[in-house]
Amino acid sequence: MRIIKVKNYDEMSLNAARIICGHIALKPNCVLGLATGSTPIGTYANLVKWYKEGGVDFSETRTVNLDEYFGISPDNENSYSYFMYNHLLNHVNIKAENINIPNGMSHDTETECERYDRVLDQLGSIDLQLLGIGHNGHVGFNEPSDIFVKKTHAIELSKSTIKANSRLFNHIDEVPTRAFTMGMQSIMKSKEILLIASGQDKADIMYEALCGPITPQVPASALQLHQNVIVIGDEAALSKF
Ligand code: F6R
Repeated sequence: MRIIKVKNYDEMSLNAARIICGHIALKPNCVLGLATGSTPIGTYANLVKWYKEGGVDFSETRTVNLDEYFGISPDNENSYSYFMYNHLLNHVNIKAENINIPNGMSHDTETECERYDRVLDQLGSIDLQLLGIGHNGHVGFNEPSDIFVKKTHAIELSKSTIKANSRLFNHIDEVPTRAFTMGMQSIMKSKEILLIASGQDKADIMYEALCGPITPQVPASALQLHQNVIVIGDEAALSKF
């Protein structure tokens, strides 16, 4: 695991975007695993800027997102689909058929999970998986649990995740309580993982996940077992290192 401590959010975003661009330059049809949330917004902004300047070409790139809320349509601005189009996909030359996001509107959860796992199988391994981390150590929406769940599954979000995500909704009651998420095995099968974190509020969990015991109670701790993880955190998020 390579841990890179940078000054602030902007430097984290710049370094993360450079790594993503490197993958696209070396393998134009690479499979990028993408995350939503506040942390990658700056990374995506850099990618959009460099695309507009002619520095990166997404025409062959394939993407697969980690997760989506249950029961929220893609045109709802709180959906992860809306987030991805708004922050990245609408602004670059990626082909629509190369974009993969779980369908939060599917009420047949089993069928949707099986469909998404087939998508992942057809893509082959993810070349670079971008991850943020939740305060309870979740990655994607793999919440603390007694076991590492391998495949795509529907999950009840924990109270702390609902509370953390409520900042983006008008009221906490509007936050969906369920979501689809890629499983830990699919994440761990990625050839390279890029974990990004910013802010003092992530300091404890970053230390616990990367230096504490490997346990499904802290899903991100599984990353300690991966051969090729790059962590980019700002001074606040990595203040315990
Ligand atoms: C979202 C995702 C989540 C977030 C995590 C951190 O697609 O995968 O695991 O990365 O909740 O969110 P932020 O970046 O908002 O702190």
